Amino acid sequence: MKKLLVANWKMNPITVLEARQLWLASRRAAKGARNVQLVICPPAVFLQILVSGERPANLWLGAQDAAAAASGAETGGISPSMLRDVGARYLLVGHSERRALGEDDALVAAKARLALRLGLRVILCVGETKRDERGEYLKVIQAQLAAVLPKLPRAMLGHLVVAYEPVWAIGAQATESDTPAGFLEQKLFIRRVASQLIGRVGRHLPVLYGGSVDELNVADFLTAGEADGLLVGRASLSIKSWTKIIQLV
Ligand code: PGA
Repeated sequence: MKKLLVANWKMNPITVLEARQLWLASRRAAKGARNVQLVICPPAVFLQILVSGERPANLWLGAQDAAAAASGAETGGISPSMLRDVGARYLLVGHSERRALGEDDALVAAKARLALRLGLRVILCVGETKRDERGEYLKVIQAQLAAVLPKLPRAMLGHLVVAYEPVWAIGAQATESDTPAGFLEQKLFIRRVASQLIGRVGRHLPVLYGGSVDELNVADFLTAGEADGLLVGRASLSIKSWTKIIQLV
Protein backbone atom coordinates (compact mmCIF):
# COMPACT_ATOMS: atom_id res chain seq x y z
CA MET A 1 0.00 0.00 0.00
CA LYS A 2 1.13 3.57 -0.74
CA LYS A 3 2.03 5.65 2.28
CA LEU A 4 -0.49 8.39 2.95
CA LEU A 5 1.19 11.72 3.65
CA VAL A 6 -1.22 14.38 4.86
CA ALA A 7 -0.46 18.09 5.34
CA ASN A 8 -2.60 19.93 7.86
CA TRP A 9 -2.03 23.62 7.24
CA LYS A 10 -4.41 24.57 10.07
CA MET A 11 -5.23 28.32 9.93
CA ASN A 12 -2.30 29.08 7.62
CA PRO A 13 -1.08 30.68 5.40
CA ILE A 14 -2.70 34.12 5.40
CA THR A 15 -2.78 34.85 1.67
CA VAL A 16 -3.85 33.09 -1.52
CA LEU A 17 -0.41 33.82 -2.93
CA GLU A 18 1.37 31.91 -0.16
CA ALA A 19 -1.14 29.06 -0.38
CA ARG A 20 -0.42 28.76 -4.08
CA GLN A 21 3.33 28.68 -3.52
CA LEU A 22 2.99 25.88 -0.97
CA TRP A 23 0.65 23.96 -3.26
CA LEU A 24 2.98 24.31 -6.25
CA ALA A 25 5.87 22.98 -4.16
CA SER A 26 3.76 19.93 -3.26
CA ARG A 27 2.89 19.48 -6.91
CA ARG A 28 6.54 19.51 -7.94
CA ALA A 29 7.52 17.05 -5.21
CA ALA A 30 4.53 14.78 -5.87
CA LYS A 31 5.70 14.15 -9.42
CA GLY A 32 8.85 12.47 -8.14
CA ALA A 33 7.06 10.48 -5.43
CA ARG A 34 4.84 7.98 -7.19
CA ASN A 35 4.65 5.62 -4.23
CA VAL A 36 3.26 8.30 -1.94
CA GLN A 37 -0.37 9.43 -1.77
CA LEU A 38 -0.28 13.12 -0.84
CA VAL A 39 -3.22 14.96 0.69
CA ILE A 40 -3.07 18.70 1.33
CA CYS A 41 -5.61 20.08 3.80
CA PRO A 42 -5.63 23.88 3.42
CA PRO A 43 -8.17 26.23 4.95
CA ALA A 44 -11.43 25.61 3.05
CA VAL A 45 -11.38 29.05 1.40
CA PHE A 46 -8.34 28.03 -0.65
CA LEU A 47 -9.69 24.72 -1.96
CA GLN A 48 -11.31 25.94 -5.13
CA ILE A 49 -8.30 28.02 -6.12
CA LEU A 50 -5.86 25.18 -5.59
CA VAL A 51 -7.90 22.50 -7.31
CA SER A 52 -7.88 24.29 -10.65
CA GLY A 53 -5.08 23.40 -13.01
CA GLU A 54 -3.19 20.25 -13.81
CA ARG A 55 -2.32 17.95 -10.90
CA PRO A 56 -0.48 14.63 -10.60
CA ALA A 57 -2.69 11.63 -9.80
CA ASN A 58 -1.09 11.14 -6.36
CA LEU A 59 -1.88 14.66 -5.12
CA TRP A 60 -5.28 15.24 -3.49
CA LEU A 61 -7.00 17.92 -1.47
CA GLY A 62 -8.70 17.55 1.88
CA ALA A 63 -10.53 19.75 4.37
CA GLN A 64 -9.82 20.22 8.07
CA ASP A 65 -13.40 20.17 9.36
CA ALA A 66 -16.99 20.13 8.14
CA ALA A 67 -20.50 20.55 9.49
CA ALA A 68 -22.53 17.51 10.51
CA ALA A 69 -25.32 18.51 8.11
CA ALA A 70 -25.44 18.49 4.32
CA SER A 71 -27.11 21.91 4.08
CA GLY A 72 -29.46 24.20 5.97
CA ALA A 73 -29.64 26.82 8.70
CA GLU A 74 -26.17 26.70 10.24
CA THR A 75 -24.51 30.09 10.11
CA GLY A 76 -20.84 29.77 9.27
CA GLY A 77 -21.12 26.08 8.50
CA ILE A 78 -19.53 24.37 5.51
CA SER A 79 -21.02 21.03 4.54
CA PRO A 80 -19.14 17.96 3.33
CA SER A 81 -21.04 18.19 0.03
CA MET A 82 -19.75 21.71 -0.54
CA LEU A 83 -16.20 20.65 0.26
CA ARG A 84 -16.49 17.80 -2.18
CA ASP A 85 -17.86 20.10 -4.85
CA VAL A 86 -14.83 22.42 -4.55
CA GLY A 87 -12.30 19.62 -4.78
CA ALA A 88 -11.82 18.03 -1.35
CA ARG A 89 -11.64 14.25 -1.32
CA TYR A 90 -10.52 13.77 2.30
CA LEU A 91 -11.75 15.23 5.58
CA LEU A 92 -9.99 15.47 8.93
CA VAL A 93 -12.49 14.73 11.68
CA GLY A 94 -12.01 15.10 15.43
CA HIS A 95 -8.67 16.88 15.37
CA SER A 96 -7.63 17.68 18.96
CA GLU A 97 -7.76 21.41 18.22
CA ARG A 98 -11.45 21.04 17.27
CA ARG A 99 -12.11 18.84 20.30
CA ALA A 100 -10.48 21.54 22.48
CA LEU A 101 -13.05 24.00 21.10
CA GLY A 102 -15.83 21.83 22.47
CA GLU A 103 -16.41 19.15 19.83
CA ASP A 104 -17.49 15.98 21.64
CA ASP A 105 -17.44 12.36 20.51
CA ALA A 106 -21.08 12.46 19.41
CA LEU A 107 -20.40 15.37 17.08
CA VAL A 108 -17.22 13.73 15.78
CA ALA A 109 -19.25 10.60 15.01
CA ALA A 110 -21.98 12.58 13.24
CA LYS A 111 -19.43 14.43 11.10
CA ALA A 112 -17.55 11.27 10.17
CA ARG A 113 -20.74 9.39 9.30
CA LEU A 114 -22.13 12.13 7.08
CA ALA A 115 -18.81 12.81 5.35
CA LEU A 116 -18.43 9.13 4.44
CA ARG A 117 -22.02 9.01 3.16
CA LEU A 118 -21.42 12.10 1.04
CA GLY A 119 -18.36 10.67 -0.64
CA LEU A 120 -15.38 11.95 1.35
CA ARG A 121 -12.63 9.78 2.78
CA VAL A 122 -12.36 10.37 6.52
CA ILE A 123 -9.20 10.74 8.59
CA LEU A 124 -10.40 10.26 12.16
CA CYS A 125 -8.00 11.82 14.68
CA VAL A 126 -7.65 10.24 18.11
CA GLY A 127 -5.15 10.70 20.92
CA GLU A 128 -4.74 11.24 24.62
CA THR A 129 -3.83 14.55 26.26
CA LYS A 130 -1.32 12.95 28.60
CA ARG A 131 0.41 9.63 29.05
CA ASP A 132 0.48 7.88 32.38
CA GLU A 133 2.48 4.91 33.60
CA ARG A 134 -0.58 2.80 34.33
CA GLY A 135 -1.92 2.85 30.78
CA GLU A 136 -5.07 4.82 31.63
CA TYR A 137 -4.56 6.77 28.40
CA LEU A 138 -5.45 3.68 26.41
CA LYS A 139 -8.99 4.00 27.76
CA VAL A 140 -9.20 7.46 26.23
CA ILE A 141 -8.30 6.15 22.79
CA GLN A 142 -10.63 3.18 23.19
CA ALA A 143 -13.51 5.49 24.16
CA GLN A 144 -12.85 7.80 21.18
CA LEU A 145 -12.96 4.84 18.80
CA ALA A 146 -15.97 3.21 20.47
CA ALA A 147 -17.97 6.44 20.16
CA VAL A 148 -17.42 6.70 16.42
CA LEU A 149 -16.61 3.45 14.59
CA PRO A 150 -19.89 1.55 15.22
CA LYS A 151 -21.83 4.60 13.93
CA LEU A 152 -20.17 4.65 10.51
CA PRO A 153 -21.80 3.21 7.38
CA ARG A 154 -20.35 -0.28 7.03
CA ALA A 155 -20.12 -0.13 3.27
CA MET A 156 -17.88 2.94 3.50
CA LEU A 157 -15.41 1.66 6.09
CA GLY A 158 -12.82 1.15 3.36
CA HIS A 159 -12.71 4.96 3.14
CA LEU A 160 -11.71 5.37 6.78
CA VAL A 161 -8.21 6.12 8.09
CA VAL A 162 -7.29 6.71 11.74
CA ALA A 163 -4.61 9.24 12.71
CA TYR A 164 -3.08 8.66 16.12
CA GLU A 165 -2.03 12.07 17.39
CA PRO A 166 -1.10 12.26 21.07
CA VAL A 167 -2.11 15.78 22.05
CA TRP A 168 1.07 16.31 24.08
CA ALA A 169 3.11 15.84 20.89
CA ILE A 170 1.19 18.33 18.73
CA GLY A 171 2.12 21.90 17.88
CA ALA A 172 4.61 24.49 19.05
CA GLN A 173 4.10 23.79 22.77
CA ALA A 174 4.96 20.09 22.34
CA THR A 175 8.19 19.04 23.98
CA GLU A 176 8.67 15.90 21.91
CA SER A 177 7.07 13.53 19.41
CA ASP A 178 6.02 10.00 20.31
CA THR A 179 8.69 7.37 19.66
CA PRO A 180 8.35 5.00 16.68
CA ALA A 181 8.09 2.06 19.11
CA GLY A 182 5.47 3.91 21.16
CA PHE A 183 3.48 4.60 18.01
CA LEU A 184 3.64 1.00 16.86
CA GLU A 185 2.09 -0.11 20.15
CA GLN A 186 -0.73 2.39 19.60
CA LYS A 187 -1.25 1.25 16.03
CA LEU A 188 -1.65 -2.36 17.14
CA PHE A 189 -3.93 -1.31 19.99
CA ILE A 190 -6.10 0.80 17.66
CA ARG A 191 -6.44 -2.08 15.20
CA ARG A 192 -7.34 -4.51 17.97
CA VAL A 193 -10.02 -2.18 19.34
CA ALA A 194 -11.26 -1.43 15.81
CA SER A 195 -11.59 -5.11 14.95
CA GLN A 196 -13.66 -5.64 18.11
CA LEU A 197 -15.91 -2.74 17.07
CA ILE A 198 -16.26 -3.18 13.31
CA GLY A 199 -14.90 -6.64 12.57
CA ARG A 200 -12.37 -7.68 9.98
CA VAL A 201 -11.94 -4.32 8.27
CA GLY A 202 -10.65 -3.00 11.61
CA ARG A 203 -7.71 -5.39 11.50
CA HIS A 204 -6.37 -3.67 8.39
CA LEU A 205 -7.34 -0.11 9.22
CA PRO A 206 -4.60 2.28 8.05
CA VAL A 207 -3.17 4.14 11.06
CA LEU A 208 -1.20 7.34 10.58
CA TYR A 209 1.08 9.04 13.08
CA GLY A 210 0.86 12.78 13.77
CA GLY A 211 2.53 15.13 16.23
CA SER A 212 5.84 16.95 15.66
CA VAL A 213 6.71 15.03 12.50
CA ASP A 214 9.76 16.51 10.77
CA GLU A 215 12.61 15.58 8.42
CA LEU A 216 14.52 13.95 11.27
CA ASN A 217 11.90 11.48 12.48
CA VAL A 218 9.85 10.76 9.35
CA ALA A 219 11.89 7.73 8.24
CA ASP A 220 11.82 6.12 11.69
CA PHE A 221 8.05 6.42 12.01
CA LEU A 222 7.59 4.71 8.66
CA THR A 223 10.12 1.92 9.19
CA ALA A 224 10.49 1.12 12.91
CA GLY A 225 7.05 2.59 13.65
CA GLU A 226 5.35 0.85 10.69
CA ALA A 227 3.12 3.90 10.21
CA ASP A 228 0.77 3.66 7.23
CA GLY A 229 1.33 7.35 6.75
CA LEU A 230 1.86 10.65 8.54
CA LEU A 231 -0.16 13.73 9.43
CA VAL A 232 2.10 16.76 9.38
CA GLY A 233 1.33 20.21 10.77
CA ARG A 234 4.10 22.79 11.18
CA ALA A 235 6.63 21.07 8.93
CA SER A 236 4.15 21.12 6.03
CA LEU A 237 4.23 24.94 6.02
CA SER A 238 7.90 25.20 5.13
CA ILE A 239 8.56 24.43 1.47
CA LYS A 240 12.03 23.15 2.31
CA SER A 241 10.94 20.80 5.12
CA TRP A 242 7.83 19.59 3.33
CA THR A 243 9.68 18.79 0.10
CA LYS A 244 12.29 16.90 2.08
CA ILE A 245 9.62 14.94 3.95
CA ILE A 246 7.95 13.94 0.67
CA GLN A 247 11.29 12.76 -0.69
CA LEU A 248 12.03 10.77 2.47
CA VAL A 249 8.63 9.05 2.42
P1 PGA B 1 2.38 19.36 14.25
O1 PGA B 1 0.80 19.21 14.12
O2 PGA B 1 3.01 18.53 13.17
O3 PGA B 1 2.63 20.82 14.08
O4 PGA B 1 2.75 18.88 15.63
C1 PGA B 1 0.22 17.98 13.75
C2 PGA B 1 -1.28 18.07 13.75
O5 PGA B 1 -1.85 18.79 14.58
O6 PGA B 1 -1.96 17.45 12.91
